[in-house]
Order: sequence, then structure tokens, then C-alpha cells
Amino acid sequence: MQKKSLQSLWSSRFIFILAATGSAVGLGNIWKFPYITGVNGGGAFVLVYLLCVLAIGIPILMAEILLGRRGRKDPINCLKYLAAESGKSPLWKLLGWMGVIAGFLILSYYSVIAGWAMAYVPYMASGMFSGQGSDFINQQFDSLVSSPTTLVAWHTIFMFMTMFVISKGVRRGLENAIKYLMPTLFILLLVLLFYSYNYGAFSQGLSFLFSPDFSKISSDGILSAMGHAFFTLSLGMGAIMVYGSYLPKDASITSSAIWIALFDTIVALVAGMVIFPIVFANGLEAAAGPGLIFKTIPVAFSQMSGGTFFGSLFFIVLVFAAWTSSISLIEPAVVWLMDKFSVTRFKASIILGFLVWSVGLLSAFSFNILSEVTFSQSIVTSAGEFVILKDASIFDVLDYLTSNIMLPLGGLLIALFVAWKMKKEYVHQEIAAHPIIFPAWQFLLKFVAPTAVLIVFMNALGILAFIMK
Ligand code: PFF
Repeated sequence: MQKKSLQSLWSSRFIFILAATGSAVGLGNIWKFPYITGVNGGGAFVLVYLLCVLAIGIPILMAEILLGRRGRKDPINCLKYLAAESGKSPLWKLLGWMGVIAGFLILSYYSVIAGWAMAYVPYMASGMFSGQGSDFINQQFDSLVSSPTTLVAWHTIFMFMTMFVISKGVRRGLENAIKYLMPTLFILLLVLLFYSYNYGAFSQGLSFLFSPDFSKISSDGILSAMGHAFFTLSLGMGAIMVYGSYLPKDASITSSAIWIALFDTIVALVAGMVIFPIVFANGLEAAAGPGLIFKTIPVAFSQMSGGTFFGSLFFIVLVFAAWTSSISLIEPAVVWLMDKFSVTRFKASIILGFLVWSVGLLSAFSFNILSEVTFSQSIVTSAGEFVILKDASIFDVLDYLTSNIMLPLGGLLIALFVAWKMKKEYVHQEIAAHPIIFPAWQFLLKFVAPTAVLIVFMNALGILAFIMK
């Protein structure tokens, strides 16, 4: 029964691209990208992020789809099986383990933020923002996050929604939703872009996003940009591997990966082009942190005719986008649990849903009753002090640990495995031997991606400054 669900394939390559795009496009693009761009000073951060998508993200995306399609299992067993196939150590399965744990931890806080987006649907629909200024809108956000019960209630509903789809099996639940969702999301973003263009400080917003000023980005900012490239493409943790395991044999991995990355990047950039003109036109703070979109998007809708309708629709679509991503965050763990303990999909969903929900409480409380619990960590070398975390809340720590450490590390190991450990003939069986693209991909995967990830890690930890001193 369970074997059958593993082997059931997407009905076409197009559906795979939609599903993987559904995983990639989510809160990362619309909530996280603008907020961390704001915190890290704009243009230089965006440039590093784009370079990372191009030189590291796409090659690793291809590698991860390849692993999934060849192994056709959950990430842990997939790596164990593929390592054995190429005569390599079974310890490669630890990479699968790290991915499953990363997905689990990301979902725990992702669900809390998706809960914020859900809370904004009734806010918008009630018309409470219409005609209001940014002071009122700011206050509303602050009062939402300071209420532990409200946050937990929405977090609970979102976890139910996620585990409901998961319990039905990803394909059945997902294919239909995504077909309508992605186009609607995109059209709404274009409506918002039109607003920003007409009423926002558009040129100031664009120059914030696209004129790089490297004095504004720190080594930690570079690490965040790289981490975000992994986060936004759902890379380094096995989500794409599991989706790839449902991909038919004859579908092209290269063009699928390029389409997914392209859609994902366009959505993020458009979201940035919507948010920052509104920020500057209303004297808001670009570095406002995780609340940024909740403080800016309602400003636009409050002034727009039909804003109540479009505003509600926007947050509904955002919740859907988060939903299609959250499913992929936990699918690897679900498939593994079913396989390991021979439990049904339904049981696996309940167990994991409950565990993720419990850990998520910590993130929900970190915005209110546990806001005093903070962590600071820095490394002092003779080359100076390198701040890793400064007054970070539990939510910040979980985000840092997963996005900035676990996903890039997972991606690095995936690159090393496919480029150096897997037998060449197997790689050739999966990726078409295009005269230019194939060698370029191999080069990026073998040398560029691993070196870049290592350098960024060493830079953020101050090791580079220490060595070069
Ligand atoms: N890519 C998703 C987003 O941008 O919102 C988040 C995510 C999903 C990260 C799945 C990792 C993952 F495996």
C-alpha cells in the first residue's frame, strides 16, 4: 500500500513543476525576502541572493531532483540506497536525517507565521483597516503578536490544514490546489505592483532593492542571503528530493529546475517591488523585521478602492502559498515514518503533526510570554569579534539554525555526493548530456557551489578574517 504511494507519479512534468513551485513559492518569497532584505540594507543583499540562486541554487536544485528521481524514496533511505548503488558509505543517510529534522523545525515556526497571515484575512475582510493610517496598522500587528492564545489558535488551525492534506497523500491533495493558486497569487501581486507604482515611492523602492551598497552588508548578511537562496528554493532538506521521487523518468530535470527557480525569483522580486515603495512613501521602517509585510501591505489596501476585497484575497492566497510549502516541509518525515514503522499515512500525519505543533508553541510564545528568553553568541578571534546571534529570540534561533546552517550544509553535501560520489553513468542516465549545460552544471556543482558555501560559512564565523590576517 505504502510502496504504491511512493511510486505514484505526477501526472505530467508540468504538474511536477507546479508542485515544486508550490513548495518553493511561499512565505519565504512574500514575507521573508522583503523583511530580511530590509534588515540587511537592500541592494547588496539582493545581489548576493541572486548570485547564490544562479550559481549555487539551480545546480543543487538539479542535483536534488536527480537524487529523488533515482532513489524514489524518503531522503534517508534514498541516500542510503544511492550510496550503496555507487559503492559508498551508508553514513550518507545522515544527510537525509539532517534534512528531515530541518523540515520539521522549519515547519514549527513556519506554521506560526502562516497563522499571522490567516489572522489578517478576517482583519481585512472586516474593513477595520480601511481609511486607517500606518499607526493604527502597526498597533494591530503588535497586539496580534502579543497575544499567545490568538497565535496558538491560528497555529493550530494551520497545522490541521497541513496535516489534513498530508494525510490524503500529496498528489491527490495538491495538484488541484496548485493549478489555480499560483496564477491567482501572481495576478494579485501584479495588482499590488500597480498600486505601488502609482502611489508608492517607486523609484526610491527600486533603488533600495537594486542599487548595491556593499558597505551595508555584513558577513552575517552574506550568510543570510545564501541561506535564503536555499530556503526559498526549498533546498538542502529533501523536500525537492521527495517531490522528485514522483517525477516521471522522461521529464527533463534541467529545464524543470530552471523554471522553478525563475518563478520563485520573480515572485520574490515583485514582492520586494511592492513592499519597499509603500515603506518609503509612508515613512515606515525598512528594517522593521518579521512584521514588515503585515505593517505595509494593509496600508496599500486601506487606501485602495476595493481594498477590503483585494486585501482579504491577498492574505487568503498567501495562506494557500504557505500551505503548499508547509506540506513539502513535512512530507519527507511522513514518508520516512510510514516506511520505518509501517504505519499508515494517517497515523504518521497525526504523530508528526502533534510533535511539530508542540515545538511550534515555543516560536509562538517567543513573540510574547517568552520574549525575554534571548540568546547571544559571538566568536572572538584576533581578527575581531564575529557576532553570530545577538539578543535572538527562540524564533530567531530556529530560523538561523535551519536557514543559515542546516540547509546550506545539506546543500553542500548534496552537491558533493552527486558531483564526486555518484557513479558518472548514473548521473548521465538522469541528466541529458547537453554540450554546454551539462559541463557547466558539473563545474558549478563540483567546484563553485561547495567552495562558495564553505567560504560564506567561514566568513560568517570569522575564520576567513583570522586566516587572512
Ligand atoms: N520555500 C518555502 C518558502 O519560500 O516559503 C519554504 C520551504 C519549503 C523551505 C520547503 C524548505 C522546504 F523544504
